Amino acid sequence: MDTVLSGIRPTGRLHLGNYFGALRNFVRMQHEARCFFFIADYHSLTTHPDPKALHGNIRDVLSEYLAAGLDPSVATIYVQSDVPEVAELQLLLSMHAHVPELLRTASFKDKVSKLRGRSVEGEDTESGLAGISAGLLCYPVLMAADILQHRADKVPVGKDQEQHLEMTRFYARRFNSFYGVEYFKEPQAYNFGTELVKVPGLDGSGKMGKSEGNGLYLSDSDADIRKKVMRAVSDSGPTEPNQPMAEPIANLFTLLRLVSAPDVVKHFTDAYNRCEIRYGDLKKQLAEDIVAVVAPIRERIEAIRADEAYLHRVTSEGAERARASSAATLADVREIMGIHKF
Ligand code: TRP
Repeated sequence: MDTVLSGIRPTGRLHLGNYFGALRNFVRMQHEARCFFFIADYHSLTTHPDPKALHGNIRDVLSEYLAAGLDPSVATIYVQSDVPEVAELQLLLSMHAHVPELLRTASFKDKVSKLRGRSVEGEDTESGLAGISAGLLCYPVLMAADILQHRADKVPVGKDQEQHLEMTRFYARRFNSFYGVEYFKEPQAYNFGTELVKVPGLDGSGKMGKSEGNGLYLSDSDADIRKKVMRAVSDSGPTEPNQPMAEPIANLFTLLRLVSAPDVVKHFTDAYNRCEIRYGDLKKQLAEDIVAVVAPIRERIEAIRADEAYLHRVTSEGAERARASSAATLADVREIMGIHKF
């Protein structure tokens, strides 16, 4: 059976793009593989979240995972910092991570360019690295430790994480060849093949994203959803039968196909093709069908979020299982590197 692992940083509420693009597939996968899903709170520290907000953010994401259908009796669901073994593995792996390759990582360069111009007393500004933490530089090493500690085969992640995964494979290979072992296996990115859906935003172009401000969230109220959908970008309507759809309209139909019944989709597609469509009607229907998907999840999120005892149980059991798996790997790695007990 394959081992599947994925992590999510606790940096914001989940939107429909996360739900249809990832979460729904995690829910299916949990029955087909040995699954680990965790909240990457150590990783989120690279951007220095407010200590007063961090715990609540973890609680949000955790409640959303569980409300969407991840089942802690099937998958191992845990908080990264509840498994301190990963920090030791990161330390050990960092001995074989070279600074130039970390400096070249796209995500690192991207963050650095956003912070450029910052000045920190006593640090040279020329390098552009003033105030940049070693934690940020080592982000990919920690991610490699996340994955390798459970010897994951498949890692479902978006395109933006592919380079990190490539580095994980590279570190696995480098470790194996340095110590002359066949210990770590090389994890593959996994994108759900044909089931991959790109969920568009409501602003006419591009995909739904946290930073885009075009999202529908699992925590949105019914009224929020209706308001956002009614305001979605559209156009003045088709002028000829069977006219190709402009992107904003095609996006509304993509959302409709995700949430509505086939006959509803057909009704509006036919109306479009006959130039009889009224976008107001389309949006009203779309909003109601999104509400039907989101409302039950939102209610579960609220119930779970308030259930201290349940969250405590889920995270303790998750941590226990994850620690057992991680500790076994760590013991082997220590041995391989020559750290023996007296
Ligand atoms: N870096 C990932 C992101 O920002 C989160 C993450 C941390 C992760 N560790 C991981 C994803 C291990 C997959 C596997 O989305």
